[in-house]
Amino acid sequence: MKLARRAAGISPSPTLAIDAQAKAMKAKGIQVINFSAGEPDFDTPEHIKQAAIDALKAGYTRYTPVAGIPELRQAVCDSLKGRGLSYEPADIVVSCGAKHSLYNAMQVLLNDGDEVIIIAPYWVSYYEQIKLAGGVPVVVNTDAATDFKLTPEALKAALTPRTKLLILNSPCNPTGVVYSRNELEALAEVILAHGLMVISDEIYAALLYDGLTHTSIAALGSEIKERTILIDGVSKTYAMTGWRIGYAAAPRSIATAMTDLQSHSTSNPTSIAQKAAVAALTGSQEPVEAMRREFEKRRNRILAGLRELPGVECNQPGGAFYVFPYIGKLFGRRFRGQVLANSTDVATVLLNEYQVAVVPGIAFGADPYLRLSYATSMAQIEAGLERFKAFVGELQ
Ligand SMILES: Cc1ncc(COP(=O)(O)O)c(C=O)c1O
Repeated sequence: MKLARRAAGISPSPTLAIDAQAKAMKAKGIQVINFSAGEPDFDTPEHIKQAAIDALKAGYTRYTPVAGIPELRQAVCDSLKGRGLSYEPADIVVSCGAKHSLYNAMQVLLNDGDEVIIIAPYWVSYYEQIKLAGGVPVVVNTDAATDFKLTPEALKAALTPRTKLLILNSPCNPTGVVYSRNELEALAEVILAHGLMVISDEIYAALLYDGLTHTSIAALGSEIKERTILIDGVSKTYAMTGWRIGYAAAPRSIATAMTDLQSHSTSNPTSIAQKAAVAALTGSQEPVEAMRREFEKRRNRILAGLRELPGVECNQPGGAFYVFPYIGKLFGRRFRGQVLANSTDVATVLLNEYQVAVVPGIAFGADPYLRLSYATSMAQIEAGLERFKAFVGELQ
């Protein structure tokens, strides 16, 4: 059996693979400290769960409109008003998670050979989804010295006549970097001058620290809004990763194409999950603020702990729930005789010898780093830092 080229070229998600390995070790009774998960450790707030239970009991178990139920699409529009954006329900497509929204967007935007600019360190699925749509990922590298930010100059330098799309992700997974309004304005100028489209992945918009506020590039003016596909969802904000509800807000013709595409794949997202998402968006936002405050405390702790480790440096992330320490200074050193050559070596030793699961930076196209998710309890963070310290202490 020969698979299609499309399937043969897919690399599975390394973050999900490490998370699965850590969970399998845990299931065997090994005390793993898991910093690899890309999801809040909190439970979905009670009123949201209740909305799903009510929907189920009321027999809300049938197909819904492909792009989502009208009340959810309206709730998305109302929520985006908070970002200074005015959309109509017909501009909104609800899908089975933001990952699915991104997938649909790439499928309807890209022709074979279209180039898409992604910023390394990048979220792993962008790269694969671009390829699956026939596009060509063009990686612009950034590093800790410039706070992992794409500059207008670097963007211009990466442009070719085939460039079609730029993917922005603020706050960013894996770096936690947050773009300011001024920085987005400078990028928008280049996008407009060169007639590019932009996907703005804003899935972590609610998770901001240090008093930072979120700016959507789409909110910078009507021209850039017409070139933006905004992606968000309930997964991270409301601790609803398993419910699989994400959405896109897009120019009408793109929203329509995404809906038509979806009508031939998943049809609608799950009916009761949509009802839960309505409760999430329209109900009390206090649980979101409580989770955000807790994440900020954890970020402060893990950042301080990592910065104390000799040879480890770490920028202060302004959002999401990841830290992305630089570990390049550990390369070339020995752990029990083995030379650590790259982030995979470091992550492997941490998992096998110290039972600490982290994601090697290479998974995000940036080798001398690790990604640690602090969506885990303070006790686990303390214990993980102790083990990390013991690991660094053993290096020669
Ligand atoms: C940057 C980014 N975009 C999108 C997603 C997808 O979220 P969802 O669970 O809604 O598919 C994730 C999840 O890890 C993410 O980190």
